[in-house]
Formats: sequence, structure tokens, C-alpha cells
Amino acid sequence: MLILGIESSCDETAAAVVEDGRSLHSNIIASSVEEQSLYGGVVPEIASRRHIEAISLVVEQALQEASITAADLDAVAVTFAPGLIGGVLVGVNFAKGFALASQKPLVPVHHLRGHIAALYLTHPQLKPPFLCLVASGGHSHIIRVEDYTKFTILGRTVDDAAGEAFDKVARTLGLGYPGGPAVAKAALQGNEKAYKLPTPKVAGRYDVSFSGLKTAVLNLVNQGEMKGEPVNVCDMATSFQFRATEILAEKLMLAASELGEKKICIAGGVAANKALRQLLEADCKKTGAELYLPEISLCGDNAAMIASAGYYEYLSGNIANDDLNGEATLPIDYR
Ligand code: KG4
Ligand code: ZN
Repeated sequence: MLILGIESSCDETAAAVVEDGRSLHSNIIASSVEEQSLYGGVVPEIASRRHIEAISLVVEQALQEASITAADLDAVAVTFAPGLIGGVLVGVNFAKGFALASQKPLVPVHHLRGHIAALYLTHPQLKPPFLCLVASGGHSHIIRVEDYTKFTILGRTVDDAAGEAFDKVARTLGLGYPGGPAVAKAALQGNEKAYKLPTPKVAGRYDVSFSGLKTAVLNLVNQGEMKGEPVNVCDMATSFQFRATEILAEKLMLAASELGEKKICIAGGVAANKALRQLLEADCKKTGAELYLPEISLCGDNAAMIASAGYYEYLSGNIANDDLNGEATLPIDYR
């Protein structure tokens, strides 16, 4: 089955063609991130406007690169939730028109289910059930993927998402937007023990928290400025990354050991973080668990993951009606 995926829930306008959920035929991404970086973060209205300009071309290019026409497709899959609603509506509305004109079924895809499906594109042999950390700019969840379209949330952030914490710390350190890659780059040159940052106490066994960590960085930066002894940016970036990745890895490994999970995965923008990947590689080596990492190029927002998830949604009978709407928030286990 050939599925066209469409993604526009943040600042990437993306379209891709994927066969049977596993094999990538094309993967096109137009991003407004450079323009957004001028403002230090995503400005929703600008993102929506860039989506509406780019979407037709991006879809056309995805079909061209896959050497197919709309008639060759079996379905159209689109991110319908969660995300910045202006952007989501551009994708949903385009996909509706496209599906209607080409007389193909329209499949609604939950964005986080898409991030998890990036793993299916990277590891053709990977099948649920498995344990997955999904960490992006808006979400940090520890999820048991029971089946392709069945998810149990075991833990979540009680405040900021992991990616959001990277973005805010990057801003505090003057490293620009997007923060994750900027912090990771600065962290290559710092000392992780230079600043002792707090480990949060969270009531939920598999829950995480990043707000105290972020505030601790902010306080140290402000205190340093007041004393005329500014913090060392690379050392602070490394110390923060060290603690943030430790928080994520500890909770994921705790859930794995207590629940007897032997297959461990990560997904979402933060899954691109090399320190996190190395930490989990070491942890899984110790415990004997199998670790599956998504290809770095598929960690951030893309439409290949939406087309892959769309395949499994289609097989499960999740076909949209004519009145499909976008949703800004929706839990991954909505259905
Ligand atoms: O999944 P994603 O592309 O978009 C959302 O669905 O939110 O995730 C974006 C988030 C941003 O907060 C970004 O700073 C973070 O992922 N991120 C990273 C890295 N690359 C992107 N965080 C840590 N290390 C990275 N290398
Ligand atoms: Zn995302």
C-alpha cells in the first residue's frame, strides 16, 4: 500500500510517500525554522502562513520524487492532532481536498503516534509491544506501545516537556533557537560536573519534571551576572544536558526493569540527542535490553512517520469522515 503522509503541526511543512508503513519512497520537508529563530521560537501565525504557501509544492515534490501520481496512492494520511492549531488546520484542509479530488481514503494520524512510527521506518523488523520514551517540544511520555494503534501512558512530565526545557535553557544561555541542537553542540565542549544541578522529586513513579532544572539554570545564570562572574556557557550546557538526559534515562530504565520490558525505544525530537542515545546504549548493555533508536533524520517532525503510522491506522479501520477537524490537544490513547 502506498500512503501519502502530510505533516504541518509545528514549523515543518512535510509530505512523504511510504509503502506498507516501512519503506520510504520520498520524504520532503520545508521548514520555517530559520525565520522563526529570528523571534526566538515558533510564532504560530507565521508558521501557518508558511504552511499554506509551501504545502502544495511539498506534496507535488513528494509524489514526483516517489515517481508516482495521485492515482497510484492507496490513502492520504494527515496529522490532525495535537499541534499548533493554525498549522494543523492547513494540513487537514489540504489533505481533505486532496483525498476528495483523488478519491482516496483519508486517514487521521496522531502526531505522537507518528513519532513512534519513525522507529518502524528505521527498524523493519521492530514490532510492538515495546516500551517507548516519546520526548518532543510539547510532550514527554513513557508509553507502552501495546500494538500499532494501542498505547498505554505509564508516565509523563508534570510540567515542561524535555524539548521545551532544552529550548528554554538555550534561550537563557543565549544559544538561540531551536534549543536542543544548540545545547547539544555547546555541550560538546563543556564539563558535565561543572555545575551541580538538581534532580527533581516527582510523585508519579514514571513521571518526570524539568521545570526545577530549568529554573536552577536560570538562577545560576542570573546570580553569575549580578556578581560579574558569568557562567561558562559550554559547562552549563553540558551540566544541563547531563542532568536532563539522566532524568529521562533513569525513568525509562526504571519502568523497563519493573515491568520486565526487554524492548526499549525512544522517539521525538529529543531522541536525536547523542548524549541520551549513548546513555541508553550503556544502560541497555548493562541490563541486556534491546535498544531501538530512530534514524536521526526521522527524529524531528517529518511526514514519513505520519505515512507510516497512517498505514497502521488504515489497517485498524481508522478512516476519517468528511467532517474531520484538527485538534490542538489530544492524548495519544484517544482511541
Ligand atoms: O518532535 P519535534 O521535532 O517537534 C515537536 O513535536 O515538538 O521536537 C522538537 C524538540 C525541540 O524542543 C528541540 O529543541 C528538541 O526537540 N531537539 C533536541 C535535539 N534536537 C531537537 N533536544 C535535545 N537534543 C537534540 N539534539
Ligand atoms: Zn513532533
